[in-house]
Amino acid sequence: MSVEAHRELKKNQDLRITVMGLGHVGLPMALGLAELGWPTIGADEDSKKVASLSSGKSPFYEPGLQDLLSRHLNNGRFIPTDDLEGAIRASNVMFVCVGTPQRSNGEADLSQVESVARKIGRNLDGYKLIVEKSTVPVITARWIKKTVQRYAKVPVLTGPEGEDSGNAELEFDVASNPEFLQEGQALQNFFHPDRIVCGVESERAWEILEEIYRPLQCPVLRTDLNTAELIKHTANAFLATKISFINMVADLCEKVDADVTQVVEGIGRDPRIGPHFLSPGIGFGGYCLPKDVRAFVHMAETCGVDFSLLKEVERVNQQRVARFLSKVRNALWVLNGKVIGVLGAAFKPNTDDIREAPSLRIVEGLLAEGASLQLYDPNAMPGVRNVFPPENYPIRYCSSPYEVAEGAHAVLVLTEWEEFRGLDLLRLREAMDVPVLVDGRNVYRPEAVRAAGFEYISIGR
Ligand code: UDX
Repeated sequence: MSVEAHRELKKNQDLRITVMGLGHVGLPMALGLAELGWPTIGADEDSKKVASLSSGKSPFYEPGLQDLLSRHLNNGRFIPTDDLEGAIRASNVMFVCVGTPQRSNGEADLSQVESVARKIGRNLDGYKLIVEKSTVPVITARWIKKTVQRYAKVPVLTGPEGEDSGNAELEFDVASNPEFLQEGQALQNFFHPDRIVCGVESERAWEILEEIYRPLQCPVLRTDLNTAELIKHTANAFLATKISFINMVADLCEKVDADVTQVVEGIGRDPRIGPHFLSPGIGFGGYCLPKDVRAFVHMAETCGVDFSLLKEVERVNQQRVARFLSKVRNALWVLNGKVIGVLGAAFKPNTDDIREAPSLRIVEGLLAEGASLQLYDPNAMPGVRNVFPPENYPIRYCSSPYEVAEGAHAVLVLTEWEEFRGLDLLRLREAMDVPVLVDGRNVYRPEAVRAAGFEYISIGR
């Protein structure tokens, strides 16, 4: 079916969608749905964020997001609002994308999810499908269901097996449809997913989700609720495990003079292993992977399962920063009084996100040893400046990688931005006081950098 024919079909259907929570998951999701043709309300309690969106300004950087925002604000297919309860009443499908931050013990804090469930309960005025998208521990969907039931003003039917309690109009379903979006490529992931997982309890919920996602034409896996929730945590835990695993192999490579890049090529061609997510470096960061690993460990523990493997994954990851700092120390001997250039701060390229970015701990470590820094990141500078204001810290925020290199005793690569791959290495070296390049992301080919006159230290090579 053509996209146009599909849109025609949808006009006849009464699917009124709200995405609740307009963060790194919710906003790409809402604009993605709008692009697929679904009129979508985007609801968030943060009225400043909503005002910024309404004026056409994306609150964070994500490739392609700004364009979609402008387009769908103009054509009215995306409506931002801070009136959550109004949005709930106006819709019959709600994607819950609110935050699930972590508590100090690693457990996920589900208060935002609970608060949304209460609001939905209080405003239940006909059939609604509540789709959980945030990463949550298993059995959260059951709690959402219970909460909606408790706060609904009248008895409701729930799902296909709901007892005959009266008002069928107020039937509702909860589904789990975990997101696998990666920051920096969220829209690409939305429009070209490798799979969609739908944990459902009724045919009705399944048909609605199938309908919404039909234009994407990708495999859709139908599961029960708990399985869908577990798939999301398992995916992130496994990805984190791959990274910590290869980081240990990289350490070993350094001891025995082997090359981790070739090791990865050698194992990655085995289809049982695959080549992805095996880049060694300064460790995994970001809002999801570190938090989800801890939440998974905690959840397993509450179920009586000691997932010690994942505790080790986390421990290995924590050590990456100290290990990288010792590389810098080995290269420069004394850090006190040195000028160190830093290329990249975002937790990964194509984002301005610095949450749990290993780069921040590295910056902190260098400052603690008395170095002064010159830092550049294509997108994350405002965030870093907030954490380390130049009035309080000896950091100069630069407008280009070449400015970072001016008079530096070493330059460190902490994020593998494409821009850094294409740098004029001779120009970089000439600007520096001492040509030492410590590459925490294996951005360069060692021969090329050494040919340009650098002393080059990378990871596992
Ligand atoms: C992750 C999951 O990939 C995604 O499916 C989920 O929906 C949200 O969490 P994201 O947080 O955007 O996505 O980042 P990701 O691309 O997974 O990278 C996480 C961290 O791991 C980054 O700091 C990255 O630099 C690091 N990483 C990744 C490595 O160190 N090596 C690798 O091989 C891959």
